[in-house]
Amino acid sequence: MARLAVTARLSDPDAVARLRAAGHDVAVRDDPRPASPAELLALTAGREGLLCLPADHVDAAFLDASRVRWVSNHAVGTDNIDLAAAADRGVAVANTPGVLDDAAADLCVALALAAARRVAEGDRLVRAGGWTGFSTDLLLGLDLAGDTVALVGLGAIGRGVARRLVTGFGMRGLYVARRPHPDDERALGVERADLDEALAAAALVTLHVPLTADTRGLIGARELALMRPGAVLVNISRGPIVDEGALTAALREGRIAAGLDVFEREPIGRDHPLASLPNVVLTPHIASAGRVTRARMAALAADNLLAMAAGRRPPSPVVWEGSVVA
Ligand code: GLV
Repeated sequence: MARLAVTARLSDPDAVARLRAAGHDVAVRDDPRPASPAELLALTAGREGLLCLPADHVDAAFLDASRVRWVSNHAVGTDNIDLAAAADRGVAVANTPGVLDDAAADLCVALALAAARRVAEGDRLVRAGGWTGFSTDLLLGLDLAGDTVALVGLGAIGRGVARRLVTGFGMRGLYVARRPHPDDERALGVERADLDEALAAAALVTLHVPLTADTRGLIGARELALMRPGAVLVNISRGPIVDEGALTAALREGRIAAGLDVFEREPIGRDHPLASLPNVVLTPHIASAGRVTRARMAALAADNLLAMAAGRRPPSPVVWEGSVVA
């Protein structure tokens, strides 16, 4: 029997039930707000296993102060965890890849369409009673079919977006990646480009890279200035990949539009500078929030923790036996 902690109520209660059915003692934090470092330490006091969310910071200080040996992230992104510190301390880490790609690609396309075709602006206009009748130039937006999408990152989520927008909507697809993906080029009809070239060519730019030291601030003022006037930027990856101040300035000038599911610091509220701008569609970090997807994530996070607690390699390891493996 191990002592485990879960930092939030999971969308599928079966996941925690399975941890308990395996004989483990499980403490579940029942608070939708992100846990502070002190709360995370209190929750995990005397516990070896942690099932956590992207909002939980599992850093070196936490690892030194706690007895946690196994970290199961209920997310594919692991930027909330200091992987090197975990590897150094022999702490195992796992995540939830594979089960959320379609849901994330769907939300990317939803934000792209909402920003390109001004869906949220139209909704606000109607609700405010400002719609006076059919008009030939009301809320004109960007046509996606036949224009170019630039996919920054071509992992599983980027490929899902390419299937939807290139294969499905008839967009020309450029991708930016460290290495060529010849199989994807053949299967999806996408072409590799460097970042500057892709930004300058695209009507729509979508971000699909993990947050690392290399990608932090990848899209700054210079890159935003390269985008075509009227183009749309969609970020469903991690907020700090974009310089939010520079993006806010570009949106305020009306040069581009955006759809954002992630932010430099989350959550944001109504007083955030982005929240007053009409040409950005904002969602509260819900890219993986399909009902079926969230149940699969909870199940995989539980499977990962059950395996680690039994001393077995988890189904989706990120740090295992002192090395970062994914
Ligand atoms: C969510 O943001 C995830 O990384 O799964």
